[in-house]
Amino acid sequence: MKKIIIAIDGYSACGKSTTAREVAKELNYKYIDSGAMYRAVTLSFLQRHVALTNPKEVDRALLGIRITFLVNSKGITETYLNGINVEKEIRKMNVSEKVSQVSALRTVRLAMVEQQRKLAKERGVVMDGRDIGTVVFPDAELKIFLTADMLVRAFRRQKELLERDDLVDIDTIISNLQQRDEMDSNRTESPLRKAPDAIGIDTTQISIDEQVDEVIRMALTKMIRPLKPQA
Ligand code: DC
Repeated sequence: MKKIIIAIDGYSACGKSTTAREVAKELNYKYIDSGAMYRAVTLSFLQRHVALTNPKEVDRALLGIRITFLVNSKGITETYLNGINVEKEIRKMNVSEKVSQVSALRTVRLAMVEQQRKLAKERGVVMDGRDIGTVVFPDAELKIFLTADMLVRAFRRQKELLERDDLVDIDTIISNLQQRDEMDSNRTESPLRKAPDAIGIDTTQISIDEQVDEVIRMALTKMIRPLKPQA
């Protein structure tokens, strides 16, 4: 079967990562969480007190950042920043509060997009993010765009944070999601947009299993090579 690229874009907390991870597992594809890369850059900038308004400082800091992914013993992909596992830390609120500002910077995006393309050189990849179908892989064979109602998104994110022992009240989460929607959609560099050829799925009323099944069904139709016409 043909190896394809599956791009899953959409707003925060619509189930992109969970769907992408499960689809990749089922298809035996590589899963890449592009949001984790922007989060890792943000964590590094916070640790090193990088002034986001100083382009030279940003560029210098970017040179010292190496992001890698490793699959742990439970089969879950985790993010490493310069060889250190930062999977837990990049999900914390202090990173969520700054990540939209960091990911709006042109040089940060250029560096991340270059890495994302390298990671998918051999195709057979499911990547989730904001600009995967529009900028990173405009040629992706399957593009999905996820949406969901704000309250459902906020409760999903709260549950996710709780699973990491981080109790955050629902109003704080809603306000963070709203701010990020606004910044991610209105930035100059690669704003969050549905690609014209992306298939929209509203996940408000459907379960993760249903989402995953739907995407796999669509992927399989793209993976089957078209038969050569008979002579
Ligand atoms: O998917 P996430 O919520 O973990 O992403 C964190 C932030 O990173 C999000 O607010 C916007 C940014 N992002 C981006 O600009 N482009 C991507 N491809 C993925 C994430």
